[in-house]
Amino acid sequence: MAFPTETVYGLGADGGNPAAVAKIFAAKGRPQDHPLIVHVGSIDSLPLWAAEIPAAAHKLAAAFWPGPLTLILKRAAGVSDCVTGGQDTVGLRIPGHPVALELLRAFTGEAGGHRYSGIAAPSANKFGRISPTTAEHVRAELGAAVDAVLDGGDCEVGIESTIVDLSRGRAVLLRPGQITPAQIAAVLGAEVDLPDAAAPRAPGTLESHYAPRTPLHLVLAAELPARLAALRGRKVAVLARAEAPSGLQHVHWQAAPRAVAAYAHELYASLRRLDELACELILVEAPPAVPEWQGVNDRLRRAAST
Ligand code: TXA
Ligand code: MG
Repeated sequence: MAFPTETVYGLGADGGNPAAVAKIFAAKGRPQDHPLIVHVGSIDSLPLWAAEIPAAAHKLAAAFWPGPLTLILKRAAGVSDCVTGGQDTVGLRIPGHPVALELLRAFTGEAGGHRYSGIAAPSANKFGRISPTTAEHVRAELGAAVDAVLDGGDCEVGIESTIVDLSRGRAVLLRPGQITPAQIAAVLGAEVDLPDAAAPRAPGTLESHYAPRTPLHLVLAAELPARLAALRGRKVAVLARAEAPSGLQHVHWQAAPRAVAAYAHELYASLRRLDELACELILVEAPPAVPEWQGVNDRLRRAAST
């Protein structure tokens, strides 16, 4: 079943049922060794999934949950390899969306000797493609491969959660998102490190991900006019915070919001729309290279084909 979260739509299954989780991999076409995030409705469910809940996890949970933050913790005994991708850690978050929270709270209990307390869910898109931020995106992308889609409207945040690894005694940023390393550091009173070779694998951090089918190039604002002039006569789409210059009949110009939250909120829907125009090329004006834009810039870099 697909369900809305505040970040993107997830494709969920009982995290305690390997057969159900296997169906997610089949629907997405996702490699089996890629771990899934387990969504829980309450911090009380954490001990069922995590063997160690360090003080840092409690602090970050209190500050940001429900919300767009995933914590990587040492996994509890009995957590299935198909959820963790065979790693000794598990990704956990309480999503900040009323429909997701209602679903998760209803999905906490015991029946027939089976205890259920978490929904394993990746983003509800085909592997490597743009994450869905509306129920319609999920239906268009997964079609009959998904039995039901809970429609919770547009996802507010629009890009996937920030992922922080707390499994090795310090905080390591595995995937940037709306919640910035500075916000996390302020809560922890300690810096957030960047991943090194020993960090857990996070496939959302593969170089090519979140990608439209149309080739996408990131272009500095100052270089956009010259690029467009060089492409005269070709069918090109542009996503830019700048105003459209006049006299560009060959260009489909999509205005993007100037503020980061609004930009992220619209980003994936805009990329899908531009992809559908079947242009030769999508040019995206590179947003500012500043920390608040790190999550957006990360997704755009991975969406870019060169
Ligand atoms: O906002 C989100 O996080 C969305 C919504 C649906 O919650 N979910 C999402 O799931 O983006 P997915 O599967 O598309 O990306 C999850 C990321 C992957 O990069 C995966 O590698 C990483 O989380 N991850 C999950 N468990 C992990 C673990 N134990 N160690 C390292 N990375 C993990
Ligand atoms: Mg994903």
